Amino acid sequence: MDDSSEFGQQFGQHPYQSEPDSEELLRIIFDYTAKIANERNLDNVLMLMADMGKEIVVSDRCTVWLLEGEWLRTKVAHGVPELKIPSSSGLVGHAIETGEPVFIDDAYLDPRWYNTDKETGYCTKAIMVIPFRNNEGKMMGAYQAINKLTSSAVFTEADVRNLTLAASYSGKSLEAAQLTQEIEETQKEIIFTMGEIGESRSQETGCHVKRVAEYSYILALGLGLSPTEAELLKVASPMHDIGKVAIPDTILNKPGKLTEEEFELMKTHTTIGYNLLKASTRRLLQAAAIVAHEHHEKWNGGGYPRGLKGDEIHLYGRITAVADVFDALSCERVYKKAWPLDRILQLFQEERGQHFDPLIVDVLMKSLPDILKIQNLYKDM
Ligand code: C2E
Ligand code: SIN
Ligand code: SIN
Ligand code: SIN
Ligand code: FE
Ligand code: FE
Repeated sequence: MDDSSEFGQQFGQHPYQSEPDSEELLRIIFDYTAKIANERNLDNVLMLMADMGKEIVVSDRCTVWLLEGEWLRTKVAHGVPELKIPSSSGLVGHAIETGEPVFIDDAYLDPRWYNTDKETGYCTKAIMVIPFRNNEGKMMGAYQAINKLTSSAVFTEADVRNLTLAASYSGKSLEAAQLTQEIEETQKEIIFTMGEIGESRSQETGCHVKRVAEYSYILALGLGLSPTEAELLKVASPMHDIGKVAIPDTILNKPGKLTEEEFELMKTHTTIGYNLLKASTRRLLQAAAIVAHEHHEKWNGGGYPRGLKGDEIHLYGRITAVADVFDALSCERVYKKAWPLDRILQLFQEERGQHFDPLIVDVLMKSLPDILKIQNLYKDM
């Protein structure tokens, strides 16, 4: 990466750059398409494509816009924030509708341009937009390059040819990454919906799953898990009580204390949830299966269904246990009143090393400001 975008606001003051010769062009295209082919994450593919575009046409900024139904979407690149605009708007929309590239030597002289300089403080001058298609000819999106850094300061037909060629090499990788993202988004939605079903049976509001998800995320990060893994747990933890779908209403919504027999039946929500989820080999559903199975295990071995102890209990189960009980105590249930915060914290201190992993209780205490922010944000009606 060069640092030319830092000069964006003083465009015109930095030294001109030269056009790459054909050998350099080939090297750029070769290097980037190899990297892009190995990348599964859609946003990373878009970033790499943008970097490649920037080097090929020697622009200050380059953005890759994707056509998603009625919308054009882009990811942060070269100082441009993430944007979503209607697919017919601006120069990008124009290029996509006509299928033709657009060149502008001075954006301020073109009424089709959608001026965002006022918000960004950037100074746009030359713009080039090149629509690109997949191998079947379907429109996929557009490259948008801003401000040519060579002495001519305008984009040319050669830029269009080079960038179109480069885009055609990334098309397959881009489609594969889009498909992966689509599948993952769908999984997340299904999992969240299933979690809400588990909760709605027991007259809890949907906010419970949302809060447990966010608490688990905060605790996971506080324990030093990577953001990716914390995100995985955040998506999986709302499923912890999915097995409650199989528990009769009379028990689930019983206003008073459960009898021993009723509680024995209630306990089966853990294994029922686990059995619903365990067959899938998907990482997300496997994490959800573990959480469903182990969120009522206790650090001292006194929990259920298996009486696991210490780190025999999967970390995801130990984290969700803290998140779930914190929320269960904070809220009114059919069988109990909401507890005041100091009483909840007292319970967590007493149960530190008993019910709960001591380290996670420490993280809970440290993260309390963030936890309370979430509690406030997702209040039950
Ligand atoms: P839940 O309401 O989501 O509670 C989750 C966990 O939070 C409980 O797991 C328990 O560890 C903790 N918790 C909730 N309320 C209290 C409380 O008043 N005092 C203390 N010390 N801890 C509390 P647990 O006990 O394994 O219960 C699992 C599920 O069984 C509960 O989920 C709830 O759906 C049901 N349940 C438990 N006890 C009763 C009850 O007395 N009456 C009814 N109707 N349901 C109950
Ligand atoms: C346009 O190309 O006119 C819209 C996108 C932008 O803000 O540059
Ligand atoms: C409930 O059944 O009480 C809500 C589910 C939960 O607290 O985990
Ligand atoms: C489970 O035991 O719930 C799944 C397997 C595991 O914990 O790793
Ligand atoms: Fe549970
Ligand atoms: Fe719960």
